[in-house]
Amino acid sequence: MAVNIFFCVALISSLIIISNASLVVNFYKDPKAEELVREEMIAIQNEDPTLMPALLRLHFHDCFVRGCDASVLLNSWNGTAEKDAPPNLSLRGFNAIERIKTKLEKSCRGIVSCADVLAIAARDAVYLSHGPDYDVRTGRRDGNTSSAAEALLNLPPANGNISESLELYAEKNLTAKDLVAQHTFGVAHCTSFSDRLYNFTGKGDQDPSLNSTYAEKLKQECLIGNNTTVVEMNNQACL
Ligand code: HEM
Repeated sequence: MAVNIFFCVALISSLIIISNASLVVNFYKDPKAEELVREEMIAIQNEDPTLMPALLRLHFHDCFVRGCDASVLLNSWNGTAEKDAPPNLSLRGFNAIERIKTKLEKSCRGIVSCADVLAIAARDAVYLSHGPDYDVRTGRRDGNTSSAAEALLNLPPANGNISESLELYAEKNLTAKDLVAQHTFGVAHCTSFSDRLYNFTGKGDQDPSLNSTYAEKLKQECLIGNNTTVVEMNNQACL
């Protein structure tokens, strides 16, 4: 997987600022907490390297709704939690977070918040994917409210266009450079962009702004009606 996530540091710093100004580096005085997360992240990466970008995205989807409070992890009995909202249906990595949290609970019960686990795991995902290492400010508290409606209001739709996406970014003090940098690793489901290949205006047409060579390559990977295939964001074969 080709990775160019140097600018993720700037991005993650912004997410941290969005979430809480009073967080500190080394909130958990015993450095073991972050060591345990990294140890487990290395094991997770060895088993499934594709979870690294997924865990970065999970942190972002958590932070855009009610701040970085782990509300994206909460389940509801009637399908109304954040994770049930359409922009969150393609999130991956919930089991990995559960696995890290379980490991932490064995060593330091009830100490490390899930919100901090998400933030530390995102940092480790960047680092383990050959991005930079950086300090994560911690001390977040977990929320106990999670709403699909709020997620819909605050998260970008998977098929949003570039102007809409940039507007959303600007609202969070993020830039176009951040947007590109974050999407240099990981995957996208064909369903997230297939309308641009096959039905842009509802008349069976292709988005005219899409490079036609690139579009042809994408069509080979994403056949009409294919709901499960994913393609690499940084798809060298498509360049
Ligand atoms: C306007 C804002 C954004 C839009 C419209 C957007 C859109 C998307 C879409 C459509 C996908 C593909 C999902 C799929 O089909 O599976 C995706 C994946 C991804 N996004 Fe974003 N995104 C945004 C912001 C961000 C931010 C702030 C980050 C990082 C902090 C991020 C990191 C990622 C990563 C790493 C993936 C790959 C996930 C994986 O491999 O499972 N995105 N994004």
